[in-house]
Amino acid sequence: MSGHGFASHYDDAQAIDSIRKPTAITETTIAEMREIMARYPEPRSALLPMLHLAQSIDGCVTDGAVKICADLLGISEAQVNGVATFYTMYKRREAGEHHIGVCTTSLCAVMGGDALIDQMKEKLGIDEGETTADGKFSLERLECNAACDFAPVMMVNWEFMDQMTPEKADKLIDALVAGQEVRATRGATITSFKQAERVLAGFPDGRADEGPSAAGASLAGLEIARQRGWKAPEVPQTPAIEGEEQ
Ligand code: FES
Repeated sequence: MSGHGFASHYDDAQAIDSIRKPTAITETTIAEMREIMARYPEPRSALLPMLHLAQSIDGCVTDGAVKICADLLGISEAQVNGVATFYTMYKRREAGEHHIGVCTTSLCAVMGGDALIDQMKEKLGIDEGETTADGKFSLERLECNAACDFAPVMMVNWEFMDQMTPEKADKLIDALVAGQEVRATRGATITSFKQAERVLAGFPDGRADEGPSAAGASLAGLEIARQRGWKAPEVPQTPAIEGEEQ
């Protein structure tokens, strides 16, 4: 390496953070992107849902989708890429029909998350960050899902699978392979990564109210508070600032 050169340790360094697969986004999706933009006072605030919509078509954020978003919002492709590479929910490799995430942050790890991800690697025959050859599954190691009270947790297309074991995870994959109806432990029907991404873009599929929004350990503290008549302290009124309307 000479002078100011940079030697990457990755074999595919030229491909990192760049998806050259052509985008399948059509005028219909572009019209939907404009619809999202119209929801915000500042159009560029729409970038996050627009990227989810792009993923609902391509399964990842392709270079073509980046250009479309940049053109529509009047910002640079670098700015769009800056967002798309910052948040881990935006994929730089095409996700499978079902995207499997396994939480291995502290609590899930000690409760069995490490064993779960090892089992999923073996069951699916892929490593983290990879997609099966048939495009059916992709696998990712996740940071804390804020569901530690149900550790260890997995996600399928962002739906929670609470208190998993390697055996339950194997059965889950078998059911998805067989095309059976699978429900998240919190009730929602598992659809597909692309369908879930469309919902995240703000196009509901009518399933938002399937299952409870909270249960079990998450509500234990609330139950105790109710039984004992505990209430949150009153929030003191903020003193008015001179010249500001209340
Ligand atoms: S550590 Fe896994 S959900 Fe918090």
